[in-house]
Amino acid sequence: MTDPTAAAAAAQANLKKVRTRHFQNAKKNGVKITGLTSYDQLTAGIFDRAGIDFLLVGDSAANNVYGHETTLPVTVDDLIPLTRAVANSVSRAFVVADMPFGSYETSSDEALHTAFRFMKETQAHAVKLEGGVRREEQIRRIVSAGIPVMAHIGFTPQSEHGLGGHVIQGRGAGVEQLLADAHAVEDAGAFAVVLEMVPAGAAARVTQELRIPTIGVGAGPHVNGQLLVWTDWAGFTKGRIPKFVKQYANLRKNLSDAVTAYIADVADGAYPGPEHAYDD
Ligand code: KIV
Repeated sequence: MTDPTAAAAAAQANLKKVRTRHFQNAKKNGVKITGLTSYDQLTAGIFDRAGIDFLLVGDSAANNVYGHETTLPVTVDDLIPLTRAVANSVSRAFVVADMPFGSYETSSDEALHTAFRFMKETQAHAVKLEGGVRREEQIRRIVSAGIPVMAHIGFTPQSEHGLGGHVIQGRGAGVEQLLADAHAVEDAGAFAVVLEMVPAGAAARVTQELRIPTIGVGAGPHVNGQLLVWTDWAGFTKGRIPKFVKQYANLRKNLSDAVTAYIADVADGAYPGPEHAYDD
């Protein structure tokens, strides 16, 4: 909810914490919301000081921290320490804890229990869960306990096997299901909804019909905010990155070059130099 050109200055000058009402106001005032994932205190601190509005401690930590192929294996116990580290490191940004696969689907009791764990053990400000119509009950129950919920519809990675892989959702007649999901999560009390991998036109329709803000991950420009997985965004990801990602840095190459230089310096005695050694 900041002018991108002045984000860092604004963040320093105005440390007013981002709250759910800021998401609502951003939509009302046509100000774009910015989000990134984060899984640790280093990136959380940097992104927060730069003026990011929210940080998602995503279950994409499964891939980016724990080295799994999909998000399915990661557990609540895996995510809690990462979420705590992120929440401890922000002054302004709103921190969203992602509820992992298998931690909320069976009942609203299970969903509330998991949400309580995240809120009590990490100091996150909200939780996120995947699914539309089929998760209405869970969202309603968590919200009724005073916990803000960010919903997540369109392509939902926890269902990737059910969906037949990374398939764009909401195309053609699929837009009706997308709209039904969007209305269901809004009616259940979600304060915002992530739209992942949906066509720009479908996302525009959802954004127009909903009162709550839409956050796009591969949903084109006609949404209320954008969210990216930071490791994709910063050029860490190996191999194919999704079409919708714009790479803002090339950190894999930078780090790789740095470690190569370090190895060479140690091998040929260039490091440590006299300036790195203590006098007798
Ligand atoms: O875990 C994650 O990174 C996510 C985003 C892709 C929305 O859920």
